[in-house]
Amino acid sequence: MMIDMTQADRPWPQTGRERLIFPAPVGRIGTPDEIDEEALLAHLSPAVVCMMGDNPALPRMPEKPSLLDFFHHRFGTITFRHLLCSARRALRGGHNEKIVMACLLHDIANGCLIRADHGYWGAQLIAPYVDEEVAWAVQYHQPLRYFADESVGYEYPESYKLFFGPDYVPPAYLQRDAEIARNHKWYMTARQVTINDIYFFEEEDVPEPEFFTDIIGRNFRQPEEGLGFDTSPTAHMWRTMIWPNNFL
Ligand SMILES: [Fe+2]
Ligand SMILES: [Fe+2]
Repeated sequence: MMIDMTQADRPWPQTGRERLIFPAPVGRIGTPDEIDEEALLAHLSPAVVCMMGDNPALPRMPEKPSLLDFFHHRFGTITFRHLLCSARRALRGGHNEKIVMACLLHDIANGCLIRADHGYWGAQLIAPYVDEEVAWAVQYHQPLRYFADESVGYEYPESYKLFFGPDYVPPAYLQRDAEIARNHKWYMTARQVTINDIYFFEEEDVPEPEFFTDIIGRNFRQPEEGLGFDTSPTAHMWRTMIWPNNFL
């Protein structure tokens, strides 16, 4: 990975101070990782501050991040592999670029934002930058995953029996939204995402994210200011992924 001088020369924020991290409540309430915010706050002093801006423990994002920077610098290993392999599977299956793009982004929320209702969060995150059909497919792949469609060879995933238990029943809102999706003109776009949504735990050759550069160029409107720094209604969501440890 090339680092240009401007990137290397950029000073780190809060240098010389200890930076306290208060993990986001949404990921820790109800878990043993619950933190004592008051106790942490008691550590504050001129030498100890709350983390704001680039966390030196994370790979540094460029000042104007592009979609692929999030693949390289933020996504966890499983999401990284899963998105790239799903998109390549769709491409090899001869699907159009909207479907390939939806596969490439379908679990983007799991990459480094939030897992719960990931299809809905992911769709909202990308909506300003992709065709409406792509965002729609990302949203509706989530409810459609729970419902078989034998006419196109889609069965209830074996992995879900393991994840949720064999007797899991999806909540009413997912049943309703799957029904909405089934009756929509873009149903097969979202359904194709679920068909290509396979975990390749033993995938020996994961494509480089750059493999999709041209498809992304044609199907993702990268803002000039960089993701997170334009005026789109979801810029804050990209900034949260750039600076996930910000106190505020
Ligand atoms: Fe998903
Ligand atoms: Fe997936």
